[in-house]
Amino acid sequence: MIDQMYRKAVLTVSGQKFVEDLIRSRGFRLAQRFVAGEDAASALQAVRELEGDGILGNLDLLGEFIDSPEQCSAFADRVLSLLDAANAAGIRPYVSIKLSSVGQGQTVDGEDLGLTNARRIVGKARQYGGFVCLDMEDHPRVDLTLAQFRTLVNEFGNETVGTVLQSYLYRTEADLEALGDLRPNLRIVKGAYLEPASVAMPDKADVDASYRKLVYAQMKAGNYVNVATHDEAIIEDVKHFVLAHGIGKDAFEFQMLYGIRRDLQKELAEQGYRVRAYIPYGRDWYAYFSRRIAERPANVLFVLRGMLRG
Ligand code: FDA
Repeated sequence: MIDQMYRKAVLTVSGQKFVEDLIRSRGFRLAQRFVAGEDAASALQAVRELEGDGILGNLDLLGEFIDSPEQCSAFADRVLSLLDAANAAGIRPYVSIKLSSVGQGQTVDGEDLGLTNARRIVGKARQYGGFVCLDMEDHPRVDLTLAQFRTLVNEFGNETVGTVLQSYLYRTEADLEALGDLRPNLRIVKGAYLEPASVAMPDKADVDASYRKLVYAQMKAGNYVNVATHDEAIIEDVKHFVLAHGIGKDAFEFQMLYGIRRDLQKELAEQGYRVRAYIPYGRDWYAYFSRRIAERPANVLFVLRGMLRG
């Protein structure tokens, strides 16, 4: 409950225009703990650095709340350039996209623009042997995102495209079951948006229990799982679960966010687990940054300290 109140307070305050202006005026320096840089070159550099610790990368060009169809398609073009740049640098491209950024919900030439642009991105990723994960956004987008995920898996295969399920939503267990026929590659997360109690569990203990249930169900079904959490208790439980069920280290991976628990990321990689860091980059870092602050009270102190330093 306190978690929910804290998250709500931070996301409400950070949504105020004057707070955004104030934080943005302090520039990228404040965001750099969580964001790799403002351009693709910095993001690829971050991938290289992580590779040194045996950690894989998952690149995310930040760009939320882009709205015109032209802007959405231009954004998709920038993701295509990222795929080219990664491939040229000898990095197997693994990217995450938000369908809203590429036009989901807007119809152009009789088709949802998000799907049209995602098709271009997934198609190019396949050409390079890469992978695209469709991030999950707030609850009104879940139905369409899952439907578009289904279309893309049917066209490009589950080795090229995956998506995300959020354990805080009541609906997610049923969604997991409904996707079963696709043998989907899924990232399981707790969920980062401010959602009403009518759709999302308000109690952290319930969200955590649901998280374990989803990961175990996906593993038992023999489908690839991206265990995306920094929660050490869950990570330990997953390690025991795979041992007890004879599940190989190639059947799943741990995923964490860039700049968060780098020590744990390194430790897991040293233990032979596949570990991937989600590496956001781009000039549009504010919304992403706010969600990370909303996840942990100590992060507010970090921002305030940074601002006081000027
Ligand atoms: P929890 O919040 O319980 O935190 C466990 C511990 O982790 C904390 O005690 C703290 O030590 C540490 N921690 C967590 N967050 C931290 C932070 N911001 N700063 C410092 N320490 C922190 N969500 C979504 O809705 N859609 C999506 O597509 C994705 N995608 C995604 C990809 C990846 C790779 C990750 C790791 C996460 C996401 N998320 C997401 C975000 C996710 O829903 C969730 O908000 C965060 O992962 C925080 O939850 P934890 O599972 O880490 O647990």
